[in-house]
Amino acid sequence: MCGIVGYIGARQAQGVLVSGLAKLEYRGYDSAGVAILDHGSIQVRKKAGKLANLGAELAEHPLAGTLGIGHTRWATHGLPNDTNAHPHATEDGRIVIIHNGIIENYLSLKAELRARGHEFKSETDSEVLAHLIEEKYAQTGSDLYEAVRLSLGEVRGAYGIVVTHADHREIVAARTVSPLVMGVGEGEMFLASDVPALLPYTRRMVFLHDGDMVVLSDSGYRVTDLQGRAVTRQIDQIDWDAEAAEKGGFDTYMLKEIYEQPTALTNTLIGRLNDDSGEVNLDINLDPSSFKRISIIACGTAYLAGLVGEYLIEQLARIPVEVDVASEYRYRDPLVSEHTLAIVISQSGETIDTLEALREAKKGGAKTLGVINAKGSSMTRELDDTLYIHAGPEIGVASTKAYTSMVGAMLMLALWLARARGTLSEAQAKELLSAARELPRLVEEALSPQRVAQIKVVAEKYAHARDYLFLGRGVNAPTALEGALKLKEISYIHAEGYAAGEMKHGPIALIDENLPVVVVATQSRLLEKTISNVQEVRARAGKVILLLSDGDTENAQHADDVIYVPRSHEMVSPIVNVVALQLLSYFTATALGKDVDKPRNLAKSVTVE
Ligand code: M6R
Repeated sequence: MCGIVGYIGARQAQGVLVSGLAKLEYRGYDSAGVAILDHGSIQVRKKAGKLANLGAELAEHPLAGTLGIGHTRWATHGLPNDTNAHPHATEDGRIVIIHNGIIENYLSLKAELRARGHEFKSETDSEVLAHLIEEKYAQTGSDLYEAVRLSLGEVRGAYGIVVTHADHREIVAARTVSPLVMGVGEGEMFLASDVPALLPYTRRMVFLHDGDMVVLSDSGYRVTDLQGRAVTRQIDQIDWDAEAAEKGGFDTYMLKEIYEQPTALTNTLIGRLNDDSGEVNLDINLDPSSFKRISIIACGTAYLAGLVGEYLIEQLARIPVEVDVASEYRYRDPLVSEHTLAIVISQSGETIDTLEALREAKKGGAKTLGVINAKGSSMTRELDDTLYIHAGPEIGVASTKAYTSMVGAMLMLALWLARARGTLSEAQAKELLSAARELPRLVEEALSPQRVAQIKVVAEKYAHARDYLFLGRGVNAPTALEGALKLKEISYIHAEGYAAGEMKHGPIALIDENLPVVVVATQSRLLEKTISNVQEVRARAGKVILLLSDGDTENAQHADDVIYVPRSHEMVSPIVNVVALQLLSYFTATALGKDVDKPRNLAKSVTVE
């Protein structure tokens, strides 16, 4: 994900910007750049690749000046090259911007701006901001703050944006969805997308809220909302060390990543769903109507996201789907033809089993599409096309935000296929698209302090269980499997995940008064059947932990413990429901004193067979 640094003060900006960007490298990026104001002119240096490339450029052509902005870009729109790297400037070079996020309506804005004579250099969505601000700047009589504010009124999407103008010794910034933190120094001010960039300079920080704008000058700062009204934000004294800062103040990366899910999902979905028209824009160069079958191939948690994908694609697009564990697929001589679409799912894009399975599918003539998090990873170089999930770097070995973003991506793919194949009416599509767009808010709600505290109590109550059983049905059968996988990965408690209806064919033998059984029993057309399975557990004295939709007091009577989750459309519910299971695993593992970020025997990316 992109990184942002800004500085105004007495120091030479170049050093502050480059050192700040280096502290943000862990976020992942593929190009970097800086812009520095000196004697009424702004100079830009930017380079594709690692920061070292920018460093070499700056060593050869250094920039003097005490006001500047810097950026590491994680490409979304346009290739990771020098031109698409940020900062972006207007034609006359007087206004320079950096941007983190996605401007959803950039195509229509770009067309309008072009029609009014603006020339674009890059393929990015971000560049429209520079040109838009230039127009507003002229209209407002050279008021930079007002020009930025009015421009943001015309964009849809996510942004952390930082703007400078050659005629103003000030920096104007704003955020919606994408994070931005301000550092308050003595006679100097800083901005960054994350705390670690600022720690060497100040520990007094202001965490900007969604919809905040800020103007930094040599004499201080002022914060307003997007309507221009002054707002007060408290200054926090940050006493984290560098490692804690990278964890955003959370105890572990895993917990940080669980809490990042609303933002990760926003980034997965943004710009891709149009609930006004019912259309899905995935920018995939494959013909969705040319496939007769779909093979989904992945490992571990990504495989479980594939199982949700199977359900969604078959339900919505009515194409036969099979899902394979990659390590099996490549050795089972699979039936593949040019009418097969092979979808590989991977957070890292490096898992060797998945990579080899991808090669196997290609050998058979399949068209290949990746649902991938890591930009430029090995798989992306071999795939016909890639749908990036944009979840941001995932450091915790146990996958959390990548899983929910993968399922979000599978939902979009199912909708895209369904619309192209005419299996979903416009009205149905609109209903599902608006359910999908609700997801970040629902996941945020699933992470409310009261819910998290309640899950912690349940986790601690059963933390010393020897075994666990997880059950779910329909689109939430894979949710149960993911709950079991997460628990065993980080707590080392033996856990089984099963489709609830299958329990009576074997696992029922495990049930006694010592076995906690977690049942995903949220609102769905199979709820009554699921509750029958719950009765079978109770009849054998198993301890029932029910995941119920908010307000379902009737079924609460069947449970020893209830975890309520926000109500959501059945088709999107796996994303909302799994959050509670991630937290259940997390608090079980921490109650047992386990190292959740580095569970024994596991690697984040498995590159050996
Ligand atoms: O990077 P990938 O998504 O290809 O990784 C696949 C699995 O190794 C991964 O999901 C693994 O199961 C995680 N530890 C799950 O938490």
